[in-house]
Amino acid sequence: MRVGILTSGGDCPGLNAVIRGAVLRGIREYGQSFVGFRDGWRGLVEADSIELDWKAIRGIAKLGGTVLGTSRTNPLINGVEPVIAALDQQRIDAVIAVGGEGTLTVAQLLSQAGVPIVGVPKTIDNDLSATDYSFGFDTAVQIAMEAIDKIVTSGESHHRCMVVEVMGRHAGWIALHAGMATSAHAILIPEKPVGLDRIADWVTKTQARGRTPLVVVAEGFTLDTMSTPHHELGLDAFGRPRLGGIGNLLAPLIEEATGIESRATTLGYIQRGGVPTAFDRVLALRLGMASADSVHQQTWGTMVALRGTAIRRVPLSEAIGELSRVPDERYAEASVFFG
Ligand code: F6P
Repeated sequence: MRVGILTSGGDCPGLNAVIRGAVLRGIREYGQSFVGFRDGWRGLVEADSIELDWKAIRGIAKLGGTVLGTSRTNPLINGVEPVIAALDQQRIDAVIAVGGEGTLTVAQLLSQAGVPIVGVPKTIDNDLSATDYSFGFDTAVQIAMEAIDKIVTSGESHHRCMVVEVMGRHAGWIALHAGMATSAHAILIPEKPVGLDRIADWVTKTQARGRTPLVVVAEGFTLDTMSTPHHELGLDAFGRPRLGGIGNLLAPLIEEATGIESRATTLGYIQRGGVPTAFDRVLALRLGMASADSVHQQTWGTMVALRGTAIRRVPLSEAIGELSRVPDERYAEASVFFG
């Protein structure tokens, strides 16, 4: 069986480990052969691919980024027919699509149109509900934690309030975990709009105790006076607003409300860069291997997922259903440390 694999959407530490897991398992166990489409769906539609043999995936599990490249190309602009024709022309028997919500939605539509396809969940935001964790999240939290620890020492020296913006479009998992790990005095997430007076109160109380206030905010957070997340960078290829900038918006507001000098840092793409943690390497390798198993067993229209400590298979429809958001009890748990 000739299998095409692609990585699509935002890059994420662990993508190369997925590729290695799938290719090695597929070649060794099932005699499958692999091609890698360059830059996600674009490579599939434009027949731009590389052979992925044993040598091509040597030593890549520990590398950041994706050796195949990625993009946010939407292949269904002209319907499913061009995709099906491209697969026929390249003699591809099955597709492994590694991506987040957008990619898996495309995979689901292709599966419904009869394309033999399986999915692997990918998002540093950890917001796909069908899997307990997605690879890349642990790395992003680790990177954010290390950066915030450094930002705090500068804040302490200047007696400033430090606001740190992390990624998290719809879900505040990175903010919650990085914030808890760094003892943040306020964690602001998309799931919980909060008023400026509340934030100012947490910051003031913290400083009154002789501590340096630390506010960790997810890019998708809204103040209770805002109707949409702050964005000033236009739209992406799927027409979604490109988020970012809420930290810079908040810092002067906090300063004005509290009289405490405040500074903002946006961590941005550093959270998606560099090498994956051990947890993410192992998870990504296991998901990759399981995707080759899915191809062998022809369980089309499914996605591999982490449930507890086991890798399971779930329908793609489940993966693209409701997003996994921070539940009330997890936020309440973290908020014991606020202020
Ligand atoms: O989906 C993951 C994510 O990291 C979001 O948190 C963020 O909004 C988005 O990617 C930004 O990605 P890009 O700028 O590459 O489109």
